[in-house]
Amino acid sequence: MSESRFEYTPDPQAGSCTRAECPLRSCPLWGSRIVPPELNPYSVAWLVGEAPGKDEEESGLPFVGKSGRELNMYLKRFTRIPRERFSVGNILRCRPPGNRDPHADEISHCESRLILDLDEHRPSIVAAVGRVSARWFLGYPVRMEKVHGLVFERMGRIIVPVYHPAAGLHSPRRMSDTIRDFSILGEVIRGERGITHMSEIQSEYGVG
Ligand code: URA
Repeated sequence: MSESRFEYTPDPQAGSCTRAECPLRSCPLWGSRIVPPELNPYSVAWLVGEAPGKDEEESGLPFVGKSGRELNMYLKRFTRIPRERFSVGNILRCRPPGNRDPHADEISHCESRLILDLDEHRPSIVAAVGRVSARWFLGYPVRMEKVHGLVFERMGRIIVPVYHPAAGLHSPRRMSDTIRDFSILGEVIRGERGITHMSEIQSEYGVG
């Protein structure tokens, strides 16, 4: 996993557009600073969170604040693969005011960019980081308690929902769940663990 030819330093400007260039003018968040994903062409998997927070908005980079530091720690210690080997982004590229959850109309605007990136880069493994991302990638209003750490197949892609690294900051129980999720992600990437769930079997995971 440490072959130097796969080492890659992301270009923070790659694939980005400035706020004035964002074509999604009807998005309620249009005009905010855009935080593009860090796309590594050699990535072992994609990590997709919810939306940038304050630190990410200020820096223009995903997962660089407190959550980012937690994420880096979980990756290094529990997947045993450093962050540089992943592509990292979010469902939304702009920060919702006050760090609230993204609204459905914001997601429906921004997802077009994410879909373009997924179509172009075709990651075979995606870690859906947190509830908003897990719901988007599984296409169903799942409960994290039911789906975290499971290995789904959806539309030809492996989806591993993992707890958001910030969750572990508030609860020791969540921290041990998150450790397990990231350990499982590492096993999936190394081919030590296969798909266990098809996302079509949905109702048992959902809110309904
Ligand atoms: N939380 C997220 O979901 N994404 C970030 O980029 C930062 C915090």
